[in-house]
Amino acid sequence: MQTVRTSEELARALAELRADGATIALVPTMGALHAGHLALVEEARRRADKVVATIFVNPTQFNDPDDLARYPREEAEDARKLEQAGCDLLWAPGAEDIYPNGFTTDVHVSGVSDRWEGEHRPGHFDGVATVVARLLRAVRPDVALFGEKDFQQLAVIRRMAAGLGIPVEIAGVPTVRDADGVALSSRNALLSPEERRRAAALPRALQTARDAILQGIPVGDALREAKQTLVDAGFLRIDYVALIDADTLEPLDGPRVPMRLIAAAVIGTTRLIDNLPVEAESSPPG
Ligand code: PAJ
Repeated sequence: MQTVRTSEELARALAELRADGATIALVPTMGALHAGHLALVEEARRRADKVVATIFVNPTQFNDPDDLARYPREEAEDARKLEQAGCDLLWAPGAEDIYPNGFTTDVHVSGVSDRWEGEHRPGHFDGVATVVARLLRAVRPDVALFGEKDFQQLAVIRRMAAGLGIPVEIAGVPTVRDADGVALSSRNALLSPEERRRAAALPRALQTARDAILQGIPVGDALREAKQTLVDAGFLRIDYVALIDADTLEPLDGPRVPMRLIAAAVIGTTRLIDNLPVEAESSPPG
C-alpha cells in the first residue's frame, strides 16, 4: 500500500490505480483506526476494484479546541492496519492540501444538519460536509463508505453529495460493537475502566427502548426509561435520547417507518453517541 500526502502525489497514484478502468471506493477517516473503520474497508473491497482510505484530522469539524488537541494520532500503526485490511492507497494530506485558500469556503447542508449533533456541536457538520466534499472532489470515487455509527453525519453527507451533484454512491455500513454492545469509537480510549464498563448502559438503553416501542409502549415512556437507565449508570449529562424519522431526522412522537433511535450523553469527560434502527427484524431472536 502506497501512502501519499500532496494533491499532486494523489493524482499520480490515482491515475495508476485507474489505469485498467478499475472502480474506486473511498473510506474517509480521522485515523486511530479500529475494527469499525476496517469494516468500512472490507465493505469497500466488496464494492469496488480498488480502495483508497484517507486519514485527516479535520480541524474545521472540531468545535472544541481541547477535543482537537487530544484526538489520538497514530498514523504508522493505522497504515499497517489498512494495508492488512487490503487497502490500496492511503492519502494522509496536510491542512494546506485540503484548505489551500485557508478556511474561507464552507459547505452548509441545511435541514438535516440543524438538530441533535448540529445543535450541540455548532459548525461541526459544516466542517464535515466541507472536508468530505473536498475529499470526494480530489479522489472522484465511484462509491464512498461511511458508518451508521455517525447516523446524522451519514445523512448530512448524502444530502451534500446530492445537493452539489457529486456523482458518487454514498454507502452506509452497520455499526461495529464490542462484546458488551458499546459501539467502537476512538473516543472509548479516553474512558477510565470504570467509565468504559458503565458505557454499556448506552446501547442497552437504546435496545430496551427499541423493544418497548416495537411492543407498542408509548414513545415518550420508552424514551423516559432510556434516559433513566443512563442516569442510573452514572452518565452526567444527557444531550438527547430521541426517536427520529430516519430520512428527515425530525423527531417522532409515535412510530413511523423508517425510524431510528439516537442518543448522545456524557460519561466522565467523554461524550458518546449511539443509534439503533427500530424495525421488527432487528430484534434479537426469542
Ligand atoms: P472517524 O470518526 O475517523 O470515522 C471514520 C468513519 O468510520 C466514519 O464513516 C464513521 O462513521 C465510521 N465508524 C466509526 N466508528 C464506527 C463503528 N463502530 N462501526 C462502523 N463504522 C464506524 O467520521 C469521521 O471520522 C469524520 O467525520 C470524517 C467523515 C472522516 C470527515 O472528517
